[in-house]
Amino acid sequence: MTPPASLTSLIRPLRLGKLWLSSNVVYSPLSGFSDYPFRQIASRFQPGLIYCEMVRMEALLKHRPSTYHLLDYHHTMRPIGAQIFGSSPQCAGSAARIIESLGFDTVDLNCGCPVNKVVRSQSGSKLLQQPKLIGDILANMAASVNIPVTVKIRAGWDLSSINSPLITSIAEQAGAQAITIHGRTRTQKYKGPANWDYIKACRSVAKKIKVFGNGDIFDAQAGIAMLQRTNCDGISVARGVIGQPWIAEEIRRKAEKQPPLHRSGFTLKQSLLQHLDEITSYYAHPAMALASLRRVANWYLKECSGAKTLRMAINHTLDIDIVRSMIEKYHWDQITYPLKSACATQLAQEAGEAKRKTLKGCIPK
Ligand SMILES: Cc1cc2nc3c(=O)[nH]c(=O)nc-3n(C[C@H](O)[C@H](O)[C@H](O)COP(=O)(O)O)c2cc1C
Repeated sequence: MTPPASLTSLIRPLRLGKLWLSSNVVYSPLSGFSDYPFRQIASRFQPGLIYCEMVRMEALLKHRPSTYHLLDYHHTMRPIGAQIFGSSPQCAGSAARIIESLGFDTVDLNCGCPVNKVVRSQSGSKLLQQPKLIGDILANMAASVNIPVTVKIRAGWDLSSINSPLITSIAEQAGAQAITIHGRTRTQKYKGPANWDYIKACRSVAKKIKVFGNGDIFDAQAGIAMLQRTNCDGISVARGVIGQPWIAEEIRRKAEKQPPLHRSGFTLKQSLLQHLDEITSYYAHPAMALASLRRVANWYLKECSGAKTLRMAINHTLDIDIVRSMIEKYHWDQITYPLKSACATQLAQEAGEAKRKTLKGCIPK
């Protein structure tokens, strides 16, 4: 396969096994967020790869419809990755085969999720305490599929057990094509800044495996800085995509030394209406569509001065057509943009919690 043309020395095509990514800026999995409408909007800004929300291996093997819905995708989102979590090497191999049969371009193993429920099941970041098991799981996945197998980890379980460089080598030997390192430990969860030195340390032990840096990329400047400071092969953006799906484009423009595109309240209006269209055509259940829209509106509007009235109105209106009309008629010229990234974690957590409470039992179209 011919590699795509290089964009800049920092933002460039990247090869994962037989797959060429057009860019080394990827969008991370965001459980409770990176649903189908989110990915429809975000993929328009051409990240090199975009991930679905994580799914449990066993749920895939049991053919749970709700799990399969999380993996709904459209060909325009390609290249697209699925992420699995669990701790059984056998299940991982079978689950990876299912992911490949669904047409995904890559399959990733989650070794970073800090959530208690996931950790109690010996999965997610709990695997950081068993590097050999990570190797066994990845080896089974790699032996089961032809698509690239990747893995996403944290720096270690806690500050006294940083082992991401060791896991990088283990993953490489197991046949993984890429590893993403979130520069925090499990015990840190999302507190404090991500330490990019851990990413640099993993890059320095990597021979063939591609290293993606992750943590605290909320604007183009941070994306470029991570690439420069850690020498990583690519970057993975998670919360920075929330409310600014265009961040991959911004990072590319910054690397090309082009000025940022002018974005204003009207940009937000347009994006919000596009998101609303995607949501209403995907979710059959009006309550689910409305809840999804409220999350989205909060992402876009929370830190814009002048948008509070609209945000409150959207949160209290029960008819989605009325919401659309409110967005259309709002005084967007009075909105000050850009959105400040500081609210992203809080928004992500609030919205994730709200979604879990509100949408239980709703089935997408
Ligand atoms: C609400 C939320 C959901 C997440 N879901 C996933 C997930 O499904 N799989 C995963 O590997 N990481 C998940 N993450 C972690 C992110 O992908 C990322 O590693 C982390 O947020 C740090 O990157 P950032 O600073 O760019 O957000 C999640 C993070 C948040 C805040």
